[in-house]
Amino acid sequence: MQHLRHCQGLARVSLIGTQRTYLVKGAAPAVTTCVGPLSVRWQSHGNHGGQSGQAHTGLSPRWRHLIAGLVAGTGAVLAYGLYNNQAERAATSIEPVTPSSFPIYSQNEVTKHKTLDEGVWVTYKGSVYDITNFISMHPGGDKILLAAGGALEPFWSLYAVHGQDHVLEILSEYKVGELSPEDRMKQLKMADSSDPYSTDPERHPALHVNSLKPFNAEPPAALLSDNYITPNALFFKRNHLPVPRVDPKTYKLEIEGLPGRPVSLTLNDLKTRYPKHTITATLQCAGNRRSEMNTVKQVKGLNWGIAAISNATWSGARLRDVLLDAGYGPEVAAKARHVQFEGLDRDVTGTTYGASIPLVKAVSEIGDVLLAYEMNGEDIPPDHGYPVRVVVPGTVGARNVKWLGKIVISEEESKSHWQQNDYKGFSPSTDWDTVDFKSAPAIQELPIQSAITQPADGATVDRSMEEVTVRGYAWSGGGREVVRVDVTTDGGKTWHIAQLQNSEKGQEPASSPPPGQAWAWKLWEVTVPLPTETQELEIMCKAVDNSYNTQPDTVAPIWNLRGVLSNAWHRVKVKINEDNEEEE
Ligand code: MTE
Repeated sequence: MQHLRHCQGLARVSLIGTQRTYLVKGAAPAVTTCVGPLSVRWQSHGNHGGQSGQAHTGLSPRWRHLIAGLVAGTGAVLAYGLYNNQAERAATSIEPVTPSSFPIYSQNEVTKHKTLDEGVWVTYKGSVYDITNFISMHPGGDKILLAAGGALEPFWSLYAVHGQDHVLEILSEYKVGELSPEDRMKQLKMADSSDPYSTDPERHPALHVNSLKPFNAEPPAALLSDNYITPNALFFKRNHLPVPRVDPKTYKLEIEGLPGRPVSLTLNDLKTRYPKHTITATLQCAGNRRSEMNTVKQVKGLNWGIAAISNATWSGARLRDVLLDAGYGPEVAAKARHVQFEGLDRDVTGTTYGASIPLVKAVSEIGDVLLAYEMNGEDIPPDHGYPVRVVVPGTVGARNVKWLGKIVISEEESKSHWQQNDYKGFSPSTDWDTVDFKSAPAIQELPIQSAITQPADGATVDRSMEEVTVRGYAWSGGGREVVRVDVTTDGGKTWHIAQLQNSEKGQEPASSPPPGQAWAWKLWEVTVPLPTETQELEIMCKAVDNSYNTQPDTVAPIWNLRGVLSNAWHRVKVKINEDNEEEE
């Protein structure tokens, strides 16, 4: 149920059934929206910057998640849809749009507020915020103190999550003033030169960009199935941090956790001391097809379509060969369980991207884990890990660490955020209040997957054609081979078996991989008759692997709060065009 009324100035948000009220800047319509058991009410309010800090004091993490979810969710979407242009700008940008009644502060005054005793102030887009009361509630812990007395922009630009509306709305509650125009100008000049993403590589214009900084993008789905081997420029790109520029001449890969001294290898060592091994392997992000989970209930994460998956040939040294050469033996195997990887990409605190895989996979004779330096016959491109990345075939993309700097053999998994507190699956009933990341294992092998790349959802097919050709991809984790893809156009009553393709079109089919080493996807195609009695057609596909695993039919039972492991039957709806007359 929603009640809407347009108004200007700050919005007062109150949780019905509680005494709590929150101030949100921007010209907002007054809206009361009921989402599940909780209601949020938006109302018109004048500028009372001085009260904003108090309004948030004592907000528990439970309420913070609810507010974030709700404000970013149904109510906010509805409200924003009704904004006029000026109001829309105000909601997504915290730069003042009208002369402000807030006091003006110089950068010197802001800089004096760097400690909890003095109060912690920060600036963002020309506004000054007193965030003292927010620090204990910051999801990223006290890292926020790095910005104390200065600008948030250089830190926020490293973490895409901060650019979201609900984060800006929470910040707006703490506004205490405006930065003087002279100091704002100085900040803008500095920002130009301090953007950590300024050295990111150029990207192909066809990519659908999910986030620019860090860069995350997928190819158009229809292009994906045009090539068995995805061209490097179109291969999906998933970066958490700026792309590090690594000098191949000085590059060193450190290996720790083996008997004796740590080992250090140059790029040349990797290329010359170990046999070059080539595999064709598909990488898939855990969040591929997350957008379908969002249609059930909002999840947190980039809104990936069906193309956060791609296939390439990778060449490099086998990790097994390198570890054996570096001293791996039975006494290490008796104790260690994991191989940790560290990337050379780092955030402002120096924290690097990291992940780990089970040691058994790393040293397995059939595991094919590579320290790869070539992708599709070229040096690995900067976005994909130049000069060296680990390729862990059959395993979720997140463990395929790019810009590899260090390997540690250990009794423990990587301590990295991405191993411990992300990329894990939970029950549909687990929410952000109840989730315990320690209770679930880190995703390694991915489940069976398939999707329709052509026709696109919403496309029109001509009745006179009498049939439609459906194409897509199918893949399974852990080296399990896809053995069948079924396609239905009648809601699952009857199924058409698709033709599978395991090499580039027009080339000889590749021979079947040895059991347990099916690392690459299969493209598939099937032509089905158009039914006569309907004007809209729902096409669905599902794949089966050689362990007879198949996909669940709907998304809701596998929904999870991070939107990972989304592999329900893929569905596209197409319209059948009855009009045979030529278009004017
Ligand atoms: N390695 C580093 N160093 N930094 C990263 O951000 N992202 C991971 C993985 N390896 C990442 C990384 C994730 S989540 C995925 S899905 C894959 O890289 C994506 O690989 P790609 O960009 O080559 O497609």
